[in-house]
Amino acid sequence: MLGGNGFVGRAVMADALDQGAEVASFSRGKSGTDLPPEVTQLVGDRDTGDYAALRTGEWDVVVDLSGYQSKHVDDAMDVLGDRVGRYVFVSSHAVYVRDLPPGTDENAARRPPLRAAAVLTNDTYGPCKVACEDDVLERYGDRATIVRPGKVTGPGDSTSTVVYWIRRGGRGGRVALPTRPEQPLQLIDSRDLGRLVVQLITDGRSGAFNAVGPFSTIAELIETAAELSGTSVELVQVPVDAVPARFPLVEAVEEAGERRRNPAKARAAGMPVTPLRQTVADVLAWDRDRGEPPLDVGLSAEDEQKLLGQG
Ligand SMILES: NC(=O)c1ccc[n+]([C@@H]2O[C@H](COP(=O)([O-])OP(=O)(O)OC[C@H]3O[C@@H](n4cnc5c(N)ncnc54)[C@H](OP(=O)(O)O)[C@@H]3O)[C@@H](O)[C@H]2O)c1
Repeated sequence: MLGGNGFVGRAVMADALDQGAEVASFSRGKSGTDLPPEVTQLVGDRDTGDYAALRTGEWDVVVDLSGYQSKHVDDAMDVLGDRVGRYVFVSSHAVYVRDLPPGTDENAARRPPLRAAAVLTNDTYGPCKVACEDDVLERYGDRATIVRPGKVTGPGDSTSTVVYWIRRGGRGGRVALPTRPEQPLQLIDSRDLGRLVVQLITDGRSGAFNAVGPFSTIAELIETAAELSGTSVELVQVPVDAVPARFPLVEAVEEAGERRRNPAKARAAGMPVTPLRQTVADVLAWDRDRGEPPLDVGLSAEDEQKLLGQG
């Protein structure tokens, strides 16, 4: 696993270990906590091209979770060559052209590939993943599997985006919501993603798979967290320009179809569907267990109160 110690990597790793796989994780060794003792840790850096730790050994499969630019996958494929049976590339649903209608599947048009970007932004991340997909497919053909997750969450979520709203719902009271309550979401539980990846490997499936979860809305996410915490919320819609830019999960109306992608192919291949309620319950418990550290996004309680005229 390239990036086995990251958030998604951990979920794939847990499932693979459950299935009795032998796992090695390659990374800089910076992210996350210690790996399980049975996992071999290989240290290297894809940005500097340090792949010395991968120069020996043979693998039935590589799961690439840290490929963001074509240089990353090209270097890794040069080093691994035919010492790997299958290359599973964890891409993103951001590869698709923007503003698609609801219900599109893996055949939807992708954005033009971008071979390198100085910085990954909303505009460059998807096109860079397209270039990675193309290179992996060109090199491994039928031995390539492409997984395109939507927004992932679950216990261990290393980004604050979904956790902000789950935690906010859990606190109850009047909630400043800079979008419409019915804004669609399609979160995938990290454990469902892990199960899909491992099942695709077990069955030797090629091609692309939309790893997206059940349909929900932002109101449902917040209200579920409130209910599970024994409280209630009043959602108060506030103007989007009254809150910091790129507010967690807040999206333009035109992007609604991007949260209603067709998961049929991945489900047929064995992707489970953890109900949103279960995912939220497990994130709440995990977040409380770790002591609810400060988040780097959203509004502080004080700023939210001021915005709602309660300060
Ligand atoms: N999270 C989501 O909602 C989401 C949605 C769609 C797609 N994805 C895709 O899923 C994959 C994993 O995402 P994630 O959320 O699990 O990310 P993450 O938690 O940031 O994990 C990234 C992993 O890559 C490793 N890594 C980063 N830079 C590296 C480098 N220069 N050399 C070697 N290893 C490096 C990290 O380990 P070290 O820091 O120890 O090096 C870590 O294991 C990514 O490809 C992402 O594009 C994620």
